[in-house]
Amino acid sequence: MAEPVVDIQGLNYSPGGLPVLQDVDLRIARGDYLAVLGPNGGGKSTLLKLMLGLVRPDSGVIRVLGQRPGEAGGRIGYLPSTPWSPTPFPSPCSKPCAWARSSPDSGVCPAVTRKGTTKRPARP
Ligand SMILES: Nc1ncnc2c1ncn2[C@@H]1O[C@H](COP(=O)(O)OP(=O)(O)OP(=O)(O)O)[C@@H](O)[C@H]1O
Ligand SMILES: [Mg+2]
Repeated sequence: MAEPVVDIQGLNYSPGGLPVLQDVDLRIARGDYLAVLGPNGGGKSTLLKLMLGLVRPDSGVIRVLGQRPGEAGGRIGYLPSTPWSPTPFPSPCSKPCAWARSSPDSGVCPAVTRKGTTKRPARP
């Protein structure tokens, strides 16, 4: 079986003793689409931050493209939901995508491209 794009095992994250994520196992295969659903404060953004290496887990193993969180930079893209962006809005879809995407492996722009919304933008 091909190496998963994301492989998380036994992840625990409890900042200040508050359990945010407990015993999380998650494996995402190449080509998969995944929607993470849950209530406000359920830990969705925290899970992404852990994958990106922006915060460190208390225990567990996280691998992104076979590497530790933060080491796969340049091969994954992340478009945060916060209003901050180097690209002024409104703007064509291609601009924030080009910013978020740092390689052809990014999950952001290929999905948009396949929907026919825009052509794959040039690499920033
Ligand atoms: N470093 C931290 N210190 C304390 N609490 C934290 C920390 N990081 C996350 N939390 C808490 O963990 C919970 C999950 O937050 P998170 O932002 O991941 O939720 P979410 O599912 O993305 O919510 P939303 O749907 O509102 O975006 C929240 O209660 C948040 O306050
Ligand atoms: Mg969130």
